[in-house]
Order: sequence, then structure tokens, then C-alpha cells
Amino acid sequence: MTVLLYVAAYVIGSIPTAIIVGKLFYGVDIRNHGSNNPGATNTVRVLGKRAGVIVLIGDIGKGALAAALPYILHVDADPLLIGLVAVLGHCFPIFANFRGGKAIATTAGTLLIANPWMLVVAYVSFFGVIFATKYVFMGSISVGVALFIYSLLEPGQSYELIFFFFILFLIFLHRSNIRNFKAHKEPKVNDKNLKND
Ligand code: G3P
Repeated sequence: MTVLLYVAAYVIGSIPTAIIVGKLFYGVDIRNHGSNNPGATNTVRVLGKRAGVIVLIGDIGKGALAAALPYILHVDADPLLIGLVAVLGHCFPIFANFRGGKAIATTAGTLLIANPWMLVVAYVSFFGVIFATKYVFMGSISVGVALFIYSLLEPGQSYELIFFFFILFLIFLHRSNIRNFKAHKEPKVNDKNLKND
């Protein structure tokens, strides 16, 4: 049964919200515009705030639903781990050639159910770093760092290794942003110029 939960979480995470919203309501494949990333940030950039909020809610919802599965189905499984499998599905979706988003919104949904304090810590860091740097990708990577530090400091948990690899995972997912940043091509949060990498 637990294995089925992980499979279900991966399938839920694989639902390509940004691609569906873009194609259904705007006739646009988000993967061909802006940063090409099928996530909320790029949806705001390309299709505007309303579309971005819909994608954001959908992506948060995927993580939250997956993390809630153990409670809904009364199965003894770790909601955080189940939710992180949905995050994997979001990043490597079976319904979109394994080319998905960059983890941040679905991770927020997961933490909302699995550990709200982690959510607070991670997203204070997310918005704080964006506020300070004006780069969304830096805020995104800081989520991994904040979760790693939190897991080191909070007694009775054993997520340190997971969040250490989560930092590396986020850096990998944001490699094009890092490349663009080095080339002075990464747009700032309020930058209307689109990039194509
Ligand atoms: O959460 C996504 C963000 O970190 C980067 O998105 O579209 O700028 O590559 P984007």
C-alpha cells in the first residue's frame, strides 16, 4: 500500500499545471516562452499574474494533496517523503516528457501539510532572498539551504541528508538560471525582458 502512495504522489506531481493552463486558457505552450520553465514564475512572466496565481495554486495543491494522502487513506507513511515524491513528479513529469518545473511551489504544498514550521522557515528565506537580491532563482535555491539548516537544528528529525541533496537538486534545476546570471541575462523579479535559455 505504501508503494502505491508513492506512485500516486508521483502521478499527482506529474500533472503539468502550467502547461495545461497555458494551452487551455491562452493557447500558449509555456515551454516555448520566457525561461521555458513550466512553473508559476514563468507563467506570471509570460501570461500575467492571474494565470500565474492559478498555476501557483495548482502546483501547491499537488504537493499538499500528495502529502495528505497518508492521512486521507489512513496509511502509515511519512507525509514529507510522499510530498517530496510529488515534487519529483512535478520536476520530471511522466505526462510532459519528464521536463517539468523547478520544485518550489509543490514543495510549499508538501510542507504546508507535512510540517508548517518548515514552510514558514523556507518561505521567509524565499521571499527574503528575493527581496534582497531581486532574483527569484536565488530565493528558490535558498529554500533548500533553509530547510537543511532547519533540519540540522530541529531535534528528533532525520531529514538532514534529504535536504542536503535537495540543495544540490535545486542547483541542478536552476542551472540555466545560474548560467544566465553569470552572463548577466537572468531577469530580475520585476524585469519584463524575457530570456530564452
Ligand atoms: O521557482 C522557479 C524559479 O526559481 C525560476 O523560474 O522561470 O525564472 O526559471 P524561472
